Amino acid sequence: MEALSLLVGQAEQAFAAARTPAELEDAKARFLGKSGAVTMQLKQLATLVADEKKTRGAEINAAKQQVEFLLGQRRQALADAELAQQLRTESLDVSLPGRHRGTGGLHPITLAAQRIEAIFGSMGFDVADGPEIETDWYSFTALNNPENHPARSMQDTFYVDVNDGEGRPLNLRPHTSPMQIRYAQAHARKHAGADPMPEIRVIAPGRTYRVDSDATHSPMFHQVEGLWVGENISFKDLKAVYLRFIRTFFETDDLRIRFRPSYFPFTEPSAEIDMMFGSGPLQGRWLEVSGSGQVHPQVIRNMGLDAERCIGFAFGSGVDRLAMLRYGVSDLRLFFEGDLRFLTQFK
Ligand code: DAH
Repeated sequence: MEALSLLVGQAEQAFAAARTPAELEDAKARFLGKSGAVTMQLKQLATLVADEKKTRGAEINAAKQQVEFLLGQRRQALADAELAQQLRTESLDVSLPGRHRGTGGLHPITLAAQRIEAIFGSMGFDVADGPEIETDWYSFTALNNPENHPARSMQDTFYVDVNDGEGRPLNLRPHTSPMQIRYAQAHARKHAGADPMPEIRVIAPGRTYRVDSDATHSPMFHQVEGLWVGENISFKDLKAVYLRFIRTFFETDDLRIRFRPSYFPFTEPSAEIDMMFGSGPLQGRWLEVSGSGQVHPQVIRNMGLDAERCIGFAFGSGVDRLAMLRYGVSDLRLFFEGDLRFLTQFK
């Protein structure tokens, strides 16, 4: 009996000393294997008489069960420790940023154009879209540009090596003003015979092109044309509409505009529109944002309208300029370089 409990104690120590499952199996062999200590005890039973065999056998079996129980415990403990170790070393770092597909965003110029469309839309303006490759007539002649006007020269306007059918090359439109003519013509055709003709109230944002490149000029840039023609549309409507637009665009009433006399062949009188913030980093500086004027009667006629009855205003504003002012961008070229470090700031 003494010997048996000693044996169980030895087994317990041996199992505890085993650091790995392999070591534990070695220890098991020493007690429960073919010539293990417990097995040897059982073998010695044969030398006993029947009576003693029975009690001694039961004692040895109890000891054997204890040893087996201790072995099972140690096996489980080693397996748990191994799992814990695995979890520690092969751990999944859930704080690591995942691999995600980049999400796109709208370009700041698109964002600015959308704002412009929404604001003029709220004032009843239609939004129109037209060709970027234009004929000489739409870009210049219809807009009352004299034959020798510098805008027509190769230094300002990009020409395409394709004839417009009247002996003149097509151009990349140098402004959105041709859209005044295209839209008004379509409007006049659509409402032919209507008296009075419904008003024309439209903006036409889009890409424009000029031979020019520096921090504030890009060969491709954006304008938004505006046109409001009716029977009694005057300069004061232009002032009210433009002031409302610019204050909404910049989300401040602390902003003034002024109309500075100017010249455009397609308007008479003509004016540059300047704006000035009443506060902020650009406070107190007049910033030019648009050309404008009362549509010239010859242009009204070129639209296919009656210049005796139709009168109105037009303007052409730089979308890039407005976007630069709104987002505080100092170099126009940043908009068109496609650098994601810049573009993702607008998402
Ligand atoms: N087309 C002119 C430009 O690109 C801008 C402009 C001026 C447009 C006066 C207009 C206008 O509609 O009335 O410089």
